[in-house]
Amino acid sequence: MYNSRIIGLGKYLPDNVVTNDDLSKLMDTNDEWIQERTGIKERRWIKKGSEDTSAVMGAKAARIAIERAGLTKDDIDFIVFATLSPDYYFPGCGVQIQEMLDMKTVGALDVRNQCSGFVYALSVADQFIKTGMYKNVLVIGSEYHSNGLDVTTRGRGVSVIFGDGAGACVLSREEDNTKGILSTHLHSEGKYADKLIVASPSIGNWVPEIIASKGEDISYFPYMDGTFVFKNAVVRFSEVITEGLTKNNLAKEDIDLFIPHQANLRISQFVQRRFGLNDNQVFNNIMKYGNTTAASIIIALTEAWEQGRVKEGDTVVLAAFGSGFTWGSAIIRW
Ligand code: ACO
Repeated sequence: MYNSRIIGLGKYLPDNVVTNDDLSKLMDTNDEWIQERTGIKERRWIKKGSEDTSAVMGAKAARIAIERAGLTKDDIDFIVFATLSPDYYFPGCGVQIQEMLDMKTVGALDVRNQCSGFVYALSVADQFIKTGMYKNVLVIGSEYHSNGLDVTTRGRGVSVIFGDGAGACVLSREEDNTKGILSTHLHSEGKYADKLIVASPSIGNWVPEIIASKGEDISYFPYMDGTFVFKNAVVRFSEVITEGLTKNNLAKEDIDLFIPHQANLRISQFVQRRFGLNDNQVFNNIMKYGNTTAASIIIALTEAWEQGRVKEGDTVVLAAFGSGFTWGSAIIRW
């Protein structure tokens, strides 16, 4: 059996920086509250009128990842695209990437697992490579949140958290089984689906009904029971990291770099303390980009790699938790 290894990484963030002070002009919030509760100082929000969408940003990140892998678009055998903010209800963004990158008629799959989306997408790509079906799989995480947020005081508990952006990697066949993705671990608990949800439009509550409600129905904005999500996140993060370490006979001291999904700096710090990791063992960039959901881990991994924080032979741990609930981890030997 083959293994799979990340051989190229890319990211794309829209230029438009939105600070906490900018948000306080739109709603009753302030820099102190946002930084204290979430760690976020600023995020990127696509400027109205820009060409950027989830698919467009994903394509921009993907071109960089393919080039850094030393490959061309024609070397890619399959696309996995993770997002909760697709350009269309259907078709998914994966097929848009096939077209935007002028690729061969390779298969394209969309993953709908929100904040865990990138870990799920990586796991799917990993299985295709390990079975020998594909050699090079393009894995993308991208989110265009800003156009779907309630940027009034009513939505402040959710809207200050999210940012736009994309990341991508090329996962490739590796003959050496001691290198690459050692294991992935995926979980879900659908009974809490309504704790973090965008409920509409859905087939049960379609656009005409929403329009007919004349503004009463706001189920098209994200709803989050923040405290409940937070409490579950810290437990599930810890469990799924332990599961990955145990599977590979690793101790927490073996972790060279832990890259948590950038949901909230306080969640990352809680998990860091729980595992007794020092600051050099953890990478966070939520301060600059906010929570970019399915894009957050791959943006952070790319930025860590660009800064020389990920080196050959390092043990890298990725972990995520989010809407669904879904959660997962990946243990990588770089
Ligand atoms: N500015 C100022 N005040 C605010 C804001 C804001 N932006 N938002 C809420 N408040 C107020 C609330 O109204 C409340 O006021 P009250 O006490 O008078 O009622 C007070 O601040 C406290 O609100 P809480 O919601 O209890 O604040 P909390 O400390 O829980 O922080 C937060 C909220 C940051 C959302 C936190 O709960 C959190 O990070 N939760 C987890 C998020 C997460 O991990 N999501 C998963 C990934 S996302 C995904 O999968 C799509």
